[in-house]
Amino acid sequence: MKKKLNLFSEIAMYLILLAQMLYVFTGTIGWFKAVLTGKSRKTKAGRFADAVTLLLLLCACVMMISSMGVSRVIFPWFKFMMEPVFHRYMATAVLTLSFIHGGMHYYFIAKSKKKAVVIITLLAIAGLAIGLALVPYLNRHLRKVEVVFEEKVRGEKVEMTGETPLVVYFTRVGNTDFEPDVDAVSGASLMRADGVLMGNTQLMALMIQDATGAEVVPITLTGEKYPYSYMDTVSVGGREIREDARPAIEDIDVSGHDKIILIYPIWWGTVPMPVATFLEANDFTGKTIYLLATQGSYGFASSTSDIRKMAKGADVVEGLSIYCDDIPNVRAELAEWLKKIK
Ligand SMILES: Cc1cc2nc3c(=O)[nH]c(=O)nc-3n(C[C@H](O)[C@H](O)[C@H](O)COP(=O)(O)O)c2cc1C
Repeated sequence: MKKKLNLFSEIAMYLILLAQMLYVFTGTIGWFKAVLTGKSRKTKAGRFADAVTLLLLLCACVMMISSMGVSRVIFPWFKFMMEPVFHRYMATAVLTLSFIHGGMHYYFIAKSKKKAVVIITLLAIAGLAIGLALVPYLNRHLRKVEVVFEEKVRGEKVEMTGETPLVVYFTRVGNTDFEPDVDAVSGASLMRADGVLMGNTQLMALMIQDATGAEVVPITLTGEKYPYSYMDTVSVGGREIREDARPAIEDIDVSGHDKIILIYPIWWGTVPMPVATFLEANDFTGKTIYLLATQGSYGFASSTSDIRKMAKGADVVEGLSIYCDDIPNVRAELAEWLKKIK
């Protein structure tokens, strides 16, 4: 039923897109002719409106092409512009330019041009804020994902020529006081694999285990767990970072391993403090730590430099930083990365 609804809404949106491109609504062809023949508005505002429209058109085209790169399912052969972050920036640009474009229509009929400029500026700020802050925020706070374990975790095997790395991960699941009724955990940035509650980093750890047969160890708090509410965890996690706390964790012995893959979520631009406890409790002299981060924005933020300071003696190597939404589809990318470090 959900799949049918999704398909229906996709088709409906596509039809609306086509309809709103109709000449009767937009006058696109007339506008193109006017711009190309130099007969468009000669005023400053007219030129600005034309520039915005052209840029909007350009960004919309780039966004369409980059969406093919993002979809590893429908266009697996399309290797160009695979970076989802780039696609998201393009979508933000399209949204912001559309707002300005709409605002310019108002400008030309507005009695008070000053008021129109203020409204257009506010619209532009709103577009940027929605694309850069609100959507990533909602994604990471309100997301609830169901995955089929067999489809998402099982995949290509990678034969490690050297030592198979030890995989250590930290995730909220297992370190949080969830209500016994886990169904109540809706909208809390959680994932369910075959109905079992699972953290993002945990799913990645299990993917690596499936690919390499690696030993997988979670970082587990021994003391107080994080609160049930996601927002409260954000506050507690932030406070721990400000206080440079070292929450107590179960011992993890890395002495028999020269290679460690550390998987962690970015918290407040760095590592969750239980990860700091793990790093400082071990001697990493002569060992290599490969970093895999998950996040609600992009990159490693300051986690890499912080880890270098905490993991004494380690050679710290950045691996992949995966946007939380992309984690269920990252199995093939992980296998490719494992081949590089094998
Ligand atoms: C306390 C806390 C702080 C966070 N801070 C950031 C952040 O600064 N930047 C970011 O991109 N994502 C941030 N996130 C989002 C997580 O990195 C993201 O949801 C991650 O995939 C969660 O992984 P997990 O399910 O394995 O715990 C934060 C999440 C929490 C709970």
